[in-house]
This record gives sequence, structure tokens and C-alpha cells, in this order.
Amino acid sequence: MTDKQSARITFIGAGNMATSLVGGMLARGFSADRITLADVSAERLQMLVGQYGVRVTESNLEAATGADVILFAVKPQQMAEVCTALAPVVQTGKPLVVSIAAGTTIARLQGWLGAETAVVRCMPNTPALVQTGATGLYASLQASESQRALAHAMLDAVGIALWLDSEEQLDAVTALSGSGPAYFFLVMEAMMAAGRAMGLDERMARQLTLQTALGAAQMAVTSDEDPSELRRKVTSPGGTTQAALNVLESQHLRDIFLKALLAARDRSRELAG
Ligand SMILES: NC(=O)c1ccc[n+]([C@@H]2O[C@H](COP(=O)([O-])OP(=O)(O)OC[C@H]3O[C@@H](n4cnc5c(N)ncnc54)[C@H](OP(=O)(O)O)[C@@H]3O)[C@@H](O)[C@H]2O)c1
Repeated sequence: MTDKQSARITFIGAGNMATSLVGGMLARGFSADRITLADVSAERLQMLVGQYGVRVTESNLEAATGADVILFAVKPQQMAEVCTALAPVVQTGKPLVVSIAAGTTIARLQGWLGAETAVVRCMPNTPALVQTGATGLYASLQASESQRALAHAMLDAVGIALWLDSEEQLDAVTALSGSGPAYFFLVMEAMMAAGRAMGLDERMARQLTLQTALGAAQMAVTSDEDPSELRRKVTSPGGTTQAALNVLESQHLRDIFLKALLAARDRSRELAG
């Protein structure tokens, strides 16, 4: 069963990511009574029953038995123990395994769960928590077309989800969109501080910065034009924007970003190794 209404979908770990995914999936037509959440916290699970009407259990084994899809949403350092305990169920039931654990490779997952396990490895980002996430996905050879489609529908429910050509590209995705929100937060911090330095009060500097970030993102997402073209259109020669951009370019902002993202990509490789 691999369509979104009939597939039995289990989440191992019912933390921030899992609950966001469930919220998004229910809004996209997945059935609450086919979704099971397993977690170590009974209190958390009870809250989620009330919120979403899904099934819950404190037993990972019970949740995984008979599932068509098992999505692992525990911390990376918990993956080995949690996966190893479920290997017999996975080898018997042959579900699709979806992992959002940062840095956990398909080879490692198949080492714990069984070499023939169908796996989709994903790298989502924090804005998934507010349904505007960006996820890169890569599937192992064992995943069927319909399993891939189902995994895509699950991640796409909290933003956009894009298939990658190779698993290695997940390191670049980690550097770009995985860590990306923090780069924009840093730019926001810097702009707010500059606003204050020019005499605006804290609240005003914050509101103007955040609304500008939101407006620029909204324009870039909805426009047919590239960000570079949008930038050119708001930059009159000799004007105020030009004065600011001249400083940013002369300080090699693009090089700084390239170096920063390469550092994040290399660190992602190191952590996966
Ligand atoms: N949050 C993000 O923006 C983000 C982005 C990209 C990828 N990810 C990945 O998503 C995964 C989940 O992240 P998260 O932020 O949702 O973490 P989280 O909020 O800590 O959720 C993990 C949940 O799993 C529970 N848990 C721990 N051990 C368990 C076990 N043995 N069996 C079942 N449940 C268990 C945890 O309970 P306790 O809290 O009691 O331990 C917690 O409720 C991570 O692997 C992370 O790398 C997250």
C-alpha cells in the first residue's frame, strides 16, 4: 500500500520534525487513522492524540510492525540503537524506510536494518516547523517508484522537496538549505544592529528588518525574474541601494558566502564519515 490515504505510516520519534510533518501531511489528505507515532514520552504522545487524532504507542516495535513506511525522526546519535532493534521487523515486513537524521548515510542505515532495505534519505530544514521547509531527498535503488512518490508527498507537505542525483549532494543541501536559515538570521541580526546604530529604536529596527526579509523572499519566490534581476531593478545608479551594495561587493560578500558554504559542506562530509 503506497498511496497517501491507505499507506500505514509510522514515525519513530514524535518530536518537533515528526509533529510538523504529521500536521502538514494531514492538511494534504493523509489519513490520521493510518498514521502511528512512537515515542519514549507518554505525555507527549497523549497530547498528539488530542491534537491530530493519530494512533500512538510507546513501543517502537508495535508501531513498526505491519507499517508500509517507517520514518525515523529521532536524533542522529539515537539512530543506531533504534534501527538495530527494529531490523527483524523491517526484514520481515519490507517497509520503505525514510530517514531525516542528519549525516546518517544509506549504507549505515542498510547496515543496521538489512542490506536490501528500501531507503529514502532526506535533509529537511527548520522552516519545515512552520510549513515552509526545503528538503533534498535521495532514494536507494531498492525504493520503488510508488514508494518514492509517497516519501516525496510526505516531505513536500511541509514545504518543497527536491530529488537529488546522488547521495553526496546531500552534503551540499545541508550546507545550502539545511544550515541556510542561520545565514539569513545572521543577516537579520546585522541589519537590526545597523538600524539601531543609526538611531532607530530596537522594536522598529526589528520590525523593519523582518518585514523586509519576508517581502524580499516573497518577491523572489513569486517573481519569474532571478534575484539578480530583482536586485538590479531596485538599484538606481548612484542611489542609496547602490552605495550599500558597493560596500558589500568590495568586501567580497559572494566569496565569503562561497567559503562559508564550502566549510559547511566539508563539515557535513566529516560528520557523515
Ligand atoms: N529540527 C530540524 O530543523 C531538523 C532539520 C533537519 C533534520 N532534522 C533531523 O530530524 C530528526 C529529529 O529532529 P527533531 O528536531 O524533531 O528532534 P526531537 O524534537 O528531539 O525529536 C526526537 C524525538 O524522539 C524521541 N526519542 C528519543 N529516543 C527515542 C527512542 N528510542 N524511541 C522513540 N523515540 C525516541 C525524543 O524523546 P526525548 O526528547 O525524550 O529524547 C523526541 O521526542 C533528527 O535526526 C534531526 O537530525 C531536524
